[in-house]
Amino acid sequence: MTKAQRMTGAVEHDPDRPDAADDGATAWPAGTVLSCTDLDIYYGSFLAVANVNLSFGANHVTALIGPSGCGKSTVLRCLNRMNDLVAGARIDGRIAYHGIDLYGPDVDVIEVRRRIGMVFQKPNPFPHSIYDNIAYGPRVTGMKVDSMDDLIEEALHRAALWDEVKNKLKQSAYALSGGQQQRLCIARSIATNPEVILMDEPCSALDPIATAKIEDLIADLAREFTIIIVTHNMQQAARVSQHTAFFTTVPDEHGDRTGRLVEVDTTENLFSNPADERTEAYITGRFG
Ligand SMILES: Nc1ncnc2c1ncn2[C@@H]1O[C@H](COP(=O)(O)OP(=O)(O)OP(=O)(O)O)[C@@H](O)[C@H]1O
Ligand SMILES: [Mg+2]
Repeated sequence: MTKAQRMTGAVEHDPDRPDAADDGATAWPAGTVLSCTDLDIYYGSFLAVANVNLSFGANHVTALIGPSGCGKSTVLRCLNRMNDLVAGARIDGRIAYHGIDLYGPDVDVIEVRRRIGMVFQKPNPFPHSIYDNIAYGPRVTGMKVDSMDDLIEEALHRAALWDEVKNKLKQSAYALSGGQQQRLCIARSIATNPEVILMDEPCSALDPIATAKIEDLIADLAREFTIIIVTHNMQQAARVSQHTAFFTTVPDEHGDRTGRLVEVDTTENLFSNPADERTEAYITGRFG
């Protein structure tokens, strides 16, 4: 076992290991939710990210870090097939969700995105009321709901927003502050009862107080959900995640820069004792 594989959460996934066979949920190491094997991601003929082998453990927060353009958002979007929406985007290799090929022919993409929700950099509430923003997912996915009011209240509680909005549920979501809007977006993604929440720089548009609230919320949410977060903020990665994966770009013979996973480890190890000098240069601010 390499240093980078000492943990039970995010691990560099080795397809040659017998327990890492990818043909069925029971074959996976306990608790692995998502796993990338020899993953290449293209935009047209451009190889944006190459050869990613990475697994994500249940109820862990995994941070994806690295310099701009190294493919953090690209990898994240492939984990719930959001990248399908980008013209020319395609993958080689495999992403498994509980051992099932996420890109298999029988996979229902809407269901994938319900189970693997996403929160974006810029809060993006719909131009509707707070209530209708949260009800949207359950309605469009035809979720069986006993009481929509109860569902809305629970989602807002779990997103630490209830007390601030309980008396204005019918008001426009646009009337909320940026930090409140981001928590509303988290409540919206929780409302469809996902297992995984992907977050792409969820605090980068927020002030320090709103950021601290989201970071506290992430720690709470990790009890119930698996969270994969892209961040440029190293302190944030250190505060919120148990595992960190560092990506960088490597130029090819044509000068195109392809993103590569350099190493993954517990956040503590990665920040205190990185295995690769590129990681060290990045986390000490000498690069990227
Ligand atoms: N829709 C797209 N079409 C073509 N190329 C893209 C597209 N999105 C991203 N890329 C390219 O893929 C590579 C990875 O981009 P990506 O946005 O994933 O990087 P990132 O690590 O998230 O960067 P940042 O930290 O700036 O957000 C870059 O070279 C980028 O130019
Ligand atoms: Mg990005």
